[in-house]
Amino acid sequence: MLILFNHDLLSRDEATIDIEDRGYQFGDGVYEVIRIYNGVFFELEAHLDRLERSAGEIKIALPFNQEELKANLEKLIEQDPVQSGHVYMQVTRGVAPRNHPFPAQADPVFVAYTKEYETEPSRAPGRAVFTEDIRWLRCDIKSLNLLGNVLAKQFANEQNVDEAIFHRGEWITEGSSTNVFIVKNKTLYTHPANHLILDGITRRVVLSIANDLGIKVKEEAFTKQDLLESDEVFISSTTQEVRPIVEVDGVRIADGKEGELTASIHAEFTGRLS
Ligand code: PDD
Repeated sequence: MLILFNHDLLSRDEATIDIEDRGYQFGDGVYEVIRIYNGVFFELEAHLDRLERSAGEIKIALPFNQEELKANLEKLIEQDPVQSGHVYMQVTRGVAPRNHPFPAQADPVFVAYTKEYETEPSRAPGRAVFTEDIRWLRCDIKSLNLLGNVLAKQFANEQNVDEAIFHRGEWITEGSSTNVFIVKNKTLYTHPANHLILDGITRRVVLSIANDLGIKVKEEAFTKQDLLESDEVFISSTTQEVRPIVEVDGVRIADGKEGELTASIHAEFTGRLS
């Protein structure tokens, strides 16, 4: 495994993280996951723009510009080739004696490495459970603080289902690591991209596909009840692409099969992969 560590390509043993790295002690950093299909990054620029935005929102200045980062990532997959997988990257505020305020002096620490999939993530119809969204109110930042998401996914695992769907009171926000869509009367609904969700790159691709297919879209919040009474439910993410959800909290959605619009959006999505 090769690690892109700031500007250098290092072996895993050479790439060491200081115990006073603020990412390690405070979760003080942001991250991205970018899918690789046939050795090519999917939606690279959108992910790098989002990384820059997330970092900017917590006042971390990236130690490179986008062109330099792109070149370094290309070098990484040239030297550590991946056919189907992803690259994970994170940047933290850097190393400084533990103290909550930003340190006067710290250099951001950037790390990226790839993962080749041994088996493709499942896109088979899945099941989900609801769970209260206990996260902070800046879910638009792709922060390293994932405890709320981790606890929700663990809850889903313990129920033997695939995803936990967050709600604030009655209102659905997103999944523990996915965005959530429903279809009702041929209209596609998903939570607006505000501070309560991560504006998923796959979500944006789905919305653009829906637009191309002439599907009516409403970026509006919907309730748990709306979801349970909808015609179709699906989730989207970099790793899970577009995945139908056919049961939530033990309640079957419509006829319990992948819906028609979900299938056509997924087919178009697959067609867009390089
Ligand atoms: N998760 N919402 C949350 C909370 C997420 O963590 C993710 C992605 C998404 C979907 O975003 P995108 O389409 O850009 O992947 C929505 C990544 C894959 C992860 O943490 O592994």
